[in-house]
Amino acid sequence: MSEFIRTLPKVELHMHIEGSMEPEMLWQLADKNKVDLPYSDIEALRNAYQFKDLTEFVNLYIQGTEVVKTAEDFYTLTMAYLDKCHQQNIIHAEVFCDIRTYTDRGQAPEMVLEGIAQGFKEGKERWGITGGMLPCFIRHLGVEAAIEDWQFYQKHQDKILGLGLAAIEVPYPPQLFQSIFDEVRDAGLKVVAHAGEEGDASYIWSAIKDLNVDRIDHGIRCLDDADLVNHLAQSQTPLTVCPCSNTSLNVVADMADHPIKTMLDAGLKVTINSDDPAHFGAYLTENMLAVQTHCGITDEDMITMTQHAIEASFADEARKQDMLKILQQHRKIDQVAMGR
Ligand code: ADE
Ligand code: ZN
Repeated sequence: MSEFIRTLPKVELHMHIEGSMEPEMLWQLADKNKVDLPYSDIEALRNAYQFKDLTEFVNLYIQGTEVVKTAEDFYTLTMAYLDKCHQQNIIHAEVFCDIRTYTDRGQAPEMVLEGIAQGFKEGKERWGITGGMLPCFIRHLGVEAAIEDWQFYQKHQDKILGLGLAAIEVPYPPQLFQSIFDEVRDAGLKVVAHAGEEGDASYIWSAIKDLNVDRIDHGIRCLDDADLVNHLAQSQTPLTVCPCSNTSLNVVADMADHPIKTMLDAGLKVTINSDDPAHFGAYLTENMLAVQTHCGITDEDMITMTQHAIEASFADEARKQDMLKILQQHRKIDQVAMGR
């Protein structure tokens, strides 16, 4: 394990809360909430965490959410993730969630926001970790469902950092959600969208032009379009890249083929994230180790991407300055240790 990566203060901007549900916890919640699982034991469940593509993954991910029933369950999930953040020196985390999966089953949407908010409150008290949640519209359920979800989120704006767009990407381009994103932005909320994970470069253009997003989630297909790369470099639109997710979902065949270094060298505001760490077997540290080993990402690149993540975060200005100082301090200590 690289000592530099282990001790680096980190920021995570792209992580779905149920994607941090380890098989053991899924099993435990199923037992507590009396949910029958189609697996003989935890090992069989773990073996099911293998995916042909994004659609197959999303379907299994949603099946796993059946075991989450109460605000306390969301609190438990959030605390387990923040404990992991503490172990990995993640100082700020912004997590995705949604309510639609639960409201469609007749569950109360408040439980999602309450449980996660309680987790973040305690995570801050216990470990000083800042952050919060970004609920997502589920794109393959369509605009009508998103409009209903927005009516709920509108009443809870004080509890969320902003709103996102996730789940099965193709054929649900961002422009389908233009009018609702207009409303969300007009209400003063930040907006992000998954685009260019499986969808082509036109999905990224649409997220920029039609949704006016503050960040693009994934965005790795931008390299297919030179004009888009120029635009992203000039506008410094942040991209939350998730390398181990991309290889697990066969978006990229092999880690050695991952475009993260090319994107960074093109001057793009790349950040590194885990997406669904339990399903892909890699939290933020493991993602960093993977791109260092296979993609030629240097320690200096790692600092650059962390600085990007701090700047691209939805923390307030004072906390951003705080985090930049923490990062600077780490860099100095490392330079002394390396005799640079
Ligand atoms: N929801 C959870 N993980 C996702 C991903 N990688 N892409 C889209 N939606 C998701
Ligand atoms: Zn994602």
